[in-house]
Amino acid sequence: MQKIHAAITAVGGYVPEYRLTNAELEKMMDTTDEWIQSRTGIKERRILKGEGKGSSDIAVEAVKNLLEKKGIDPKEIEMVVCATTTPDMQFPATANVICDKAGMTNAWGYDVNAACSGFIYALTIGSQFIETGRHKKVLVIGVDKMSSIMNYEDRKTSIIFGDGGGCVLLEPDTEGYGIIDSILKTDGSGRIYLHQKAGGSVKPATMETVMNKEHFVYQEGQAVFKFAVKNMADVAADIMARNNLTAENVAWLVPHQANKRIITATADRMNLPAEKVMMNIERYGNTTNGTLPLCLWEWEIKLKKGDNIVLAAFGGGFTWGATYIRWAY
Ligand code: UT7
Repeated sequence: MQKIHAAITAVGGYVPEYRLTNAELEKMMDTTDEWIQSRTGIKERRILKGEGKGSSDIAVEAVKNLLEKKGIDPKEIEMVVCATTTPDMQFPATANVICDKAGMTNAWGYDVNAACSGFIYALTIGSQFIETGRHKKVLVIGVDKMSSIMNYEDRKTSIIFGDGGGCVLLEPDTEGYGIIDSILKTDGSGRIYLHQKAGGSVKPATMETVMNKEHFVYQEGQAVFKFAVKNMADVAADIMARNNLTAENVAWLVPHQANKRIITATADRMNLPAEKVMMNIERYGNTTNGTLPLCLWEWEIKLKKGDNIVLAAFGGGFTWGATYIRWAY
């Protein structure tokens, strides 16, 4: 019998309307449009405004977009894996909230927290439930409301992040299309360079932690940059080598959008020209778990059945990895 692969059969996405431009950041902190663009490639990012709105609200819009395009009932979804670093609450899982809000009442699900690599972790997890035959329709979501954990007095970090999210539908395929391979890595010693200091079980929230702004992202940008450039490029090269992929037969690189310079370094390592690299960082910044599905969402129209696609990501943890997909439609 032909092996069952998990094929992506639909993509959805959503970015909030509000645009936080570099010009606006110039008014909020000591920075310039020139510095931000030359160091990161970012021109603007989207921000979710409105009291009481969280990551689930972004995800629900992306899910609705997918279900409407595909023409399927939310009740057909059997499982939801949600990759997020900004869950609506510490518990319950944001996946549960999304199921409720989007009417996916027959699904079960949970959250995956692997920072910026979360979407490829979740994709690999979701694909296992398809490959074993356990489920026929699995939704994998990557979403973040990064503005909820951003200190806009920290010019080194806040300028790169934005809000947004996307999702993909996984269904079984026996013709050789779908998720073919993935390499996933973690190195917990990297946590010192990128983390949230308080709000977890080690340092629960107190008046003091709030006063000290310890519930925001703490990032040592240069250190993270060095690890990201090397590891994202290495893992992309590794997945190419073990699947006999070349610059000629890879149709697209879908890289995590943290910094244009990291994306370029990864593409160079793969010998890929810029035309084969999905990049929307200039418009959305770094949406953490949202970057990869948002790229797939925007480029979906250009993808062809049989395209070899490499996803690559690097993030807090440290976590990193790459996934090889043979596009199914
Ligand atoms: O999403 C996954 C994980 N995250 C990443 O992959 C992010 C990786 N890191 C980066 O992308 C970059 O490190 C940043 C974009 C965050 C920062 O860029 P950088 O080129 O590493 O800047 P830096 O922190 O080394 O700062 C260089 C200089 C400093 O000035 P001095 O000390 O040389 O005088 C900073 O104070 O630039 C200054 N600077 C700024 N100037 C204007 C830092 N931030 C800003 C700013 N505007 N926003």
